[in-house]
Amino acid sequence: MKKNDQMQDAVNRRTFLGQSSGVIGTSVLGSMALNHGVFAAQNDELKIALIGCGGRGSGAADQALNTHDQGPIKLVAMADAFEDRLEGSLNNLARKHGDRVDVPEDRRFYGFEGYKKAIALADVVILATPPGFRPIHFEEAVKQGKHVFMEKPVATDAPGVRKVLAAAEEAKKKNLKVGVGLQRHHQAGYIETIKRLQDGAIGDIITTRAYWNGNTPWVRKRADLEKQYGRKLTEMEYQMRNWYYFVWICGDHITEQHIHNLDVINWLKNDFPVRANGMGGAEVRVGIDYGEIFDHHTVEFEYADGSRMYSQCRHQVGCWNSVSEHAHGSKGSAEINRYIIRGENSWRFGGKGKNPYQQEHDDLFHAIRNNVAYNEAEYGAKSSMTSILGRMATYSGKVVEWKDAINSQISTLPEAFAWDAMPKSLPGPDGMYATAVPGKTVVV
Ligand SMILES: NC(=O)c1ccc[n+]([C@@H]2O[C@H](COP(=O)([O-])OP(=O)(O)OC[C@H]3O[C@@H](n4cnc5c(N)ncnc54)[C@H](O)[C@@H]3O)[C@@H](O)[C@H]2O)c1
Repeated sequence: MKKNDQMQDAVNRRTFLGQSSGVIGTSVLGSMALNHGVFAAQNDELKIALIGCGGRGSGAADQALNTHDQGPIKLVAMADAFEDRLEGSLNNLARKHGDRVDVPEDRRFYGFEGYKKAIALADVVILATPPGFRPIHFEEAVKQGKHVFMEKPVATDAPGVRKVLAAAEEAKKKNLKVGVGLQRHHQAGYIETIKRLQDGAIGDIITTRAYWNGNTPWVRKRADLEKQYGRKLTEMEYQMRNWYYFVWICGDHITEQHIHNLDVINWLKNDFPVRANGMGGAEVRVGIDYGEIFDHHTVEFEYADGSRMYSQCRHQVGCWNSVSEHAHGSKGSAEINRYIIRGENSWRFGGKGKNPYQQEHDDLFHAIRNNVAYNEAEYGAKSSMTSILGRMATYSGKVVEWKDAINSQISTLPEAFAWDAMPKSLPGPDGMYATAVPGKTVVV
């Protein structure tokens, strides 16, 4: 780089990093970094805040802190709906990262509103609550001018997707960097396989298949929770602790898990489906502890070029399991998740890649520190919408058009967020929640 270019680069970086701060609050002085106005991009300490301190959030904070070889970084604030979740995460992170974790009591925030204060203290925020809250938190982070890493899915309904798409546009205008936890996009074998397929290795792609067939994930039973906490839980607290089984906060497993596989096919097609039809239900996993979601969905998605993606996701024990993506073309086929191409251009990935959960943070922080354009929010939102479209198809039993789905005004979220506020789905006298009824349930 020539000297003039280097100077211009320094100015750009100083302006860029200066713009991305904006610290307020009581612990301000202790956490202020990027306002100092001295160019030292590689030495600028990036302050991070973690919103949602569960399993993945703690993992993402760990991976963000692991980027310290790119420049100084510190976790300065944490927010969780529940105090018990935050403390455990903080202790584990502090044990591993020592001084890089600096979250005194006045920078720990609880309840529904804590995220705003934590975001205000950071340069980069990690959004890792269950996905129902993501659009609200992402909108706030962008409003406050912060770089973001947010977990997938980024919404559970169409109004949420629209909110994320609008905030994504705003983020671009503000030159904010946004990473989304669809980590296959940062996995060397996937990147190489998709590139070869897009370059025509199997000819025209006619059909694709995507699966997340597995077992039931965790369940937090109301009776066990009430025993553990020694009190009755409000309906809101119960649904938030057992969040996997409620549509407003989880999206159903087609959205929460299967999004990864649907997203790979969208990536391959460089497009999103125009319509879907499907069927599903809750057949085996039935009972008061399993809320309102289905235990299986099978969906046929159609792309604008007429090609189809056939998708299955299932949470039933003792069945055929597969978490995979496949493509079939005029000259061969591919097992995308195994990085294998068969046919005229047979090939198998022989390289090695870094753990994609780490790689996605390395890439995001590289973009932040070097002012490289980086915004995964749009495809993250549209792949989330793909999974919601699939759910709409299985819940309704109808053909659902993308344009109708994404414009749906039906919000799954509660009207208000408070411990005594009521979610929209409530248990009947027998403790059971109603599930969608294909042929009757209205989705758009
Ligand atoms: N990319 C991946 O492979 C991957 C893997 C696992 C999970 N995830 C995603 O990460 C997200 C979190 O999943 P998890 O497994 O960590 O769940 P988790 O239940 O372990 O953690 C979620 C945390 O968010 C907190 N929370 C809930 N509502 C909140 C609110 N309004 N404000 C602040 N905190 C709130 C919870 O109390 C909990 O501590 C989900 O979107 C999930 O789909 C992604």
